[in-house]
Amino acid sequence: MNEFINIFPVLSFRETIIKKGKNSFVWDKSGKKYLDLNSGQFCSVFGHSDDGLKKIFKKILLTIQHTSTNTLSEPVIYASKNIASIIPEMRPRTIFLATGSEAMECCLRYAKHLKEKPGILSFDKGYHGLTHGAAAYSMSRDKIRPKINFSYKIDLPNWKKTAEPHKKVYEKNLIKFKKIITSKKKKIAAVLIEPIISGGGFYFPPKKFLVEIYKICKKNDIFLIFDECQTGFGRLGEWFYAQKLGIVPDFIVAGKATGLGFPVACVIANGKTIKNKKFVMEHFSSHQNEPFAGELVNYLISRIKKNKLLKRNKKIGNKILNKLIAISKSYPEVMNARGIGLMLAFDISEKIDARKFGDEFCKDAMKFGLMLQHCNLGKTIRLLPNYAIDENEIDFFIDKLKKVLNYRRNKKVRKLS
Ligand SMILES: Cc1ncc(COP(=O)(O)O)c(C=O)c1O
Repeated sequence: MNEFINIFPVLSFRETIIKKGKNSFVWDKSGKKYLDLNSGQFCSVFGHSDDGLKKIFKKILLTIQHTSTNTLSEPVIYASKNIASIIPEMRPRTIFLATGSEAMECCLRYAKHLKEKPGILSFDKGYHGLTHGAAAYSMSRDKIRPKINFSYKIDLPNWKKTAEPHKKVYEKNLIKFKKIITSKKKKIAAVLIEPIISGGGFYFPPKKFLVEIYKICKKNDIFLIFDECQTGFGRLGEWFYAQKLGIVPDFIVAGKATGLGFPVACVIANGKTIKNKKFVMEHFSSHQNEPFAGELVNYLISRIKKNKLLKRNKKIGNKILNKLIAISKSYPEVMNARGIGLMLAFDISEKIDARKFGDEFCKDAMKFGLMLQHCNLGKTIRLLPNYAIDENEIDFFIDKLKKVLNYRRNKKVRKLS
């Protein structure tokens, strides 16, 4: 497309050019309206052009937007205390950074530095970002050049359901996990996990499995890092997924929702992990601990509390899930509807090349005013809507989804005849 000629070509971009957004909807240049079921890239969790944000930005511009890296401001101090109020069991110490990958990189450097060990063990299908370090422990690890040494992985089964699987299934995987830990203990600084595997297939490692991993890490004096870039700050109906599991990790990395659509991420370190230490490793970046980041986090937390969004996200998420399950009864091509809170997905079984299919399905959805995303190499459609999505919008989504499915059925019939 000619209009894209000066854009760095890293992705096959959608042809649609977005002009504006309001709450759950966005509009393209021609004025066509779409329901955005993924809060942009899972970040605008209060919807687009949120009125509250306008006030926050006015405040930022009238007070202070940026400081030198070694200077702190009141919004940052207050945000660190606010985080302590929502996850007191960690007695946390927080650093605010820009993107999930940057926060992940900072956390990995820190963990390796503290343990004086080079290795990280992570899930084969996990995703932690695309900086060199974060990518080296993600599903793309084998493609990273230069290769990062001491990157260990554990292969997981395709845990599609949220229900606990048979004991034997996770016991078998735990044995594999223990084996790696025992044989590489001297090298492994931390176990890094994406507790709900999103991009890699929307899988749900069972609670007992994750709790056992936590215990094994503790026993072997290995850090546990929870990548809560997608799950953190309320999406699942708890502030953090670790809390739902009753786990107190050494580090939580959060991104996405943290900045409400602006680049803010954070590393929340366990106070026990770095207690009594003034600083043990320097970390220095231009947008570290920015006042605007502090203001956004304070607004995020206060509004979730005020509007009781944790409870609401669980309830609304269940409603969407039940509607997807109902659709799958009359449209068997919709399979394995699954999710917790506002993190939902379903697979589509159509007999065409999966990657092509994912793109095609999302393009067809746009014809009907739905902005969707695929993952799992095109086999899965995932939904991470904003926290204010309402029942009318859910009905709109379900109605349009049926239309997309009918359209695709007819298209195939036409193609075959
Ligand atoms: C689980 C997880 N971790 C880390 C990242 C990296 O975050 P960012 O894209 O902000 O660098 C992402 C982004 O999709 C993610 O989903």
